[in-house]
Amino acid sequence: MTPPRVSHRAGRIAAHRYADFPVGAGDMDLRGDGSPQLRVTAAVMQRTRPSPALTLGYGDVAGDWSLRNAVAELFGVDPGDVIVTTGASEALHLALACTTDPGTSILLPTPAFPGFAQLARLLGLHPTWYPVPGVLPHRNAGEPMLICSPHNPTGVVSPHAAPGDGWTIWDVSHTAFAPDDLAAIQRRLTATGVVVFSLSKLLRLPGIRVGCLITRNRAFADAAVTVKTHLSMSASRLSQHLAAEILADPATVPELAQRAQRIAADRDRIIDAVTSAQNLQLVAGAGTAGTHLLLQTLAGSDAAGQLRAAHIVGLPGTVFGGAADTARICFAQPVDVIDRAVKRLASL
Ligand SMILES: Cc1ncc(COP(=O)(O)O)c(C=O)c1O
Repeated sequence: MTPPRVSHRAGRIAAHRYADFPVGAGDMDLRGDGSPQLRVTAAVMQRTRPSPALTLGYGDVAGDWSLRNAVAELFGVDPGDVIVTTGASEALHLALACTTDPGTSILLPTPAFPGFAQLARLLGLHPTWYPVPGVLPHRNAGEPMLICSPHNPTGVVSPHAAPGDGWTIWDVSHTAFAPDDLAAIQRRLTATGVVVFSLSKLLRLPGIRVGCLITRNRAFADAAVTVKTHLSMSASRLSQHLAAEILADPATVPELAQRAQRIAADRDRIIDAVTSAQNLQLVAGAGTAGTHLLLQTLAGSDAAGQLRAAHIVGLPGTVFGGAADTARICFAQPVDVIDRAVKRLASL
């Protein structure tokens, strides 16, 4: 008897892990966020004693009100517009599932966070790719579109309004903690706008897996909550509790604001170093916001390989569906790492 095989669609899904790009002795790890945890996290973890009743049972599928309220305050929206998810990854899955049908088209950026292409494939969608950096594309009436801003891997920021009609999924997971940037998210909440955000990324706790969907469209919100019941049910209540406690601590906002300022200053230092390098350049338009930069070799050679020769480990552009002469680095790093990275990049 022939053993059953895994489905074609599952078999076609690709996933990269950081371990695929190992860091050797003496190498600098710029694959992802290596910045220190917020100081407030340790204090909150010490004093937080969540009750078994709170953390061991199922919670509301749309999320616990303590966290929905805290997120609503952060973005200046109604708590009822916020659905808490298991990371931005689940928010993205729900957003795609509730705005598209199998076999339909969707406009997706390229290069981009790999989850966009892979989830679209899993859901049986037909992506039409639009380049970033570049002008946002026109769309056919009703065609859904995903916009990632600040964009991973380039750091490009998109206009606040999407062209044409149809659902727009705004993945703003890399928004910095700056009042103007957070307030701008409201402008994306039109009747057809859906915002995807990573709370655990913002709080520098990616392992607690808390994200959210924000929308003012009731039909979408109802569908997303129904679908979510069959995915994660409620996000981990312990994680939600921790995130809500951290957001409510008076020390959090100043620390997040300070972190955002430092990251912006470090971005400038890294951009200066790349600009002075002989063999590397920034991908045009890159580096306006976020924590990532996409670098390109001038000679068209393998960018990740060139960085590796200088003992810098980034991620090849191909991970994001981009070209091999590009590589992504993440500059959310401790200060001593930035100092060393600046010297090494400038020498390339
Ligand atoms: C643009 C973008 N969206 C979504 C995610 C997923 O975030 P999370 O870790 O909260 O699931 C990531 C993760 O890196 C990302 O870069």
